[in-house]
Amino acid sequence: MAAMHMVMTGATSGFGADAAGRLAAAGHRLTIGARRPDAVDGGWGAAALPLDLDDFASVDRFAEAIAKGPAIDALILNAGLQTSKLEVGADGFERTFAVNQLAHFRLLHRLLPHLAPGTRVILTGSGTHDPEEKTLVTPPAHANAEWLAYPDRDPTLPKKDQAQAFRAYSASKLANIMTACELAHRRPDLAAMSFDPGYVPWTGLARSSGKIISSLVSLILPLTMKRDRKSTIALSGQYLAALAADPAYAEARGDYWSVRNPALVRIAPSALARDDAACAKLWDDCEYLLGLAQTAQ
Ligand SMILES: NC(=O)c1ccc[n+]([C@@H]2O[C@H](COP(=O)([O-])OP(=O)(O)OC[C@H]3O[C@@H](n4cnc5c(N)ncnc54)[C@H](OP(=O)(O)O)[C@@H]3O)[C@@H](O)[C@H]2O)c1
Repeated sequence: MAAMHMVMTGATSGFGADAAGRLAAAGHRLTIGARRPDAVDGGWGAAALPLDLDDFASVDRFAEAIAKGPAIDALILNAGLQTSKLEVGADGFERTFAVNQLAHFRLLHRLLPHLAPGTRVILTGSGTHDPEEKTLVTPPAHANAEWLAYPDRDPTLPKKDQAQAFRAYSASKLANIMTACELAHRRPDLAAMSFDPGYVPWTGLARSSGKIISSLVSLILPLTMKRDRKSTIALSGQYLAALAADPAYAEARGDYWSVRNPALVRIAPSALARDDAACAKLWDDCEYLLGLAQTAQ
C-alpha cells in the first residue's frame, strides 16, 4: 500500500490516538492538529501543528498551513467533546456544536479547494445521533443549525442541564454525519464518510464530569449494553485507521460506518441524516453562521 498523507484532528487521546499510532506504524505521513501539539506521540514521526477547535482563528491558521503543505490523501475529523451543561464557545455559539461541528466544518470548507479527487474525508459521528438507537444520551430533536448554535432560541430545548448537554452532543454528531452526506453531493469526486465508533469506554470524552464519574461510567455503562454496541479503544482505533487507509473504503459516497463489535458495518444513519434537503440546508446554514456563504441569506 502506498504511503498516504493524512491530516487528523483528535489524535492526542482515546481511539483517535490509537488510530494515529496504527497509521504511523504502517508508514503513512501524519499531520496532526492539536491544541497540545506536545501531546502528539513523538514516536510516530508525525508533524504536530497547533489547532484549537474552540477558536476559529486557530482553525483558519491551521487550514492555511495545511493548504501550503503536501497534498492530502485523507482528512480525518475525529476531535470532539462532551460537556455536562451547555457552555458558550467560539463567537458566542454553543460550545459543543461550535467545536464538534462548526470548527470542523470551517476547516473542511477552507480545505475543500485543496482536496484532489479521491481524497478521503472522514467525520467521526456517533450512534447517539439516531433516536432509533435508544442510547442513554438524549437524542437530537432537529438539525436546525441556528437553534443548535443559539439554544436560547430553541423552543424544543429540554429543561434539565444534563439533557440539554447530552442533546447538544448528539445533535453535533448528527451534524457531522449530515455534513459527510452533503459533502458526497457537493463533491462526488471525494470519498466522504462518517464513522460511529460504538461506545468506547476509558477515553477522555466524559472528562468534564470529573475523573471519578467518568471512570464509573466506563466501568458500569458497558454492563448495561448489548455486546455489539460496546467497543474498545483498540477496536475503534483499528477501524478508524482502516477507513482512512484501507483500499476497501476508498469509494465511499457519504457512507456511514458503524462499529458493531466485532465488525464494522455500513448502515443507514437516522431519518434526518437520510433527508437530502435537511443535509443541504444544514450545510448552507453552517456556511451562513460562519460567514462563509457566497451571498447573504
Ligand atoms: N468514546 C465514545 O464512546 C464515543 C462514541 C461515539 C463517538 N465518539 C466520538 O469519537 C471522537 C473521539 O472521542 P474519544 O472518545 O476518543 O474522546 P477523547 O479521548 O476525549 O478524544 C477527543 C479528542 O478531541 C480533541 N479535542 C477536544 N477538544 C478539542 C479542541 N478544542 N481543539 C482541538 N482538539 C480537541 C482532544 O484533544 P486533547 O487531547 O487536547 O483533549 C482529543 O484528541 C469524538 O468525536 C467523539 O465525539 C466517542
